[in-house]
Amino acid sequence: MPLVRLDKILTDTGLCSRSQAREIVRRGRAAVNGIPCADPAEKFDPETVSLTVDGEPIDGPGHIYIMLNKPAGVLTATRDPRKPTVVDAMPEEWKRRGLFPVGRLDKDTTGLLLLTDDGVFAHKVISPKSHVSKLYEAVVDGMPCEADFAAFRGGIVLRDGTQCLPAELIDLGGGRVQVEVFEGKYHQVKRMLGSRQMPVLHLKRLRIGGLWLDSSLAEGEYRRLTPEEIQKIQPDILSK
Ligand code: URA
Repeated sequence: MPLVRLDKILTDTGLCSRSQAREIVRRGRAAVNGIPCADPAEKFDPETVSLTVDGEPIDGPGHIYIMLNKPAGVLTATRDPRKPTVVDAMPEEWKRRGLFPVGRLDKDTTGLLLLTDDGVFAHKVISPKSHVSKLYEAVVDGMPCEADFAAFRGGIVLRDGTQCLPAELIDLGGGRVQVEVFEGKYHQVKRMLGSRQMPVLHLKRLRIGGLWLDSSLAEGEYRRLTPEEIQKIQPDILSK
């Protein structure tokens, strides 16, 4: 990785403008790998550098990967003139870096949503070619029967004729089912269950690939993914 000027590294974190970065460094407020640095032109490897400003650790310019337990009533969008979005509640410095949701959950759907500023990663998670599975839990008005399990396994045909890939339907009893899909069509799970006379009353996403929603996150709470968790989504998902 080529070395990059400290003021540019600081600017790329989204924390401040280039002129502000120069000022921060000149005033001796920045430290690199624990050592104060007052020269904005000094160069470092942005991939491995550990930065602080006023003693507070700063996110490096590498990408951000977030897990959110999406609450109901919030749009999966970066911004909206009227309704709250999943990005609205995120810290300003992440918004400045262009954080966006990976794929889409309906406004009333809750559960695991990833956000990132890494377009390549997002594409790999969403692309049907990647076959990243998604597991949902639904409360439905109805009960699945043998023909429903077979229909899911064979690939549901939606009411408008759209053919879905084979999927898994699991009965949890008491009007609760789980559905595992390997693609992401519009309103897919609701439409699949609806086509089998099981209208969805509530839908929650539990897992993407091998990554489960952290059960300690209350609705609306979020946290960074660890490198191990990113790999759990799909091995080698970060390799370009
Ligand atoms: N399928 C749906 O119908 N809705 C979602 O939010 C996600 C998957």
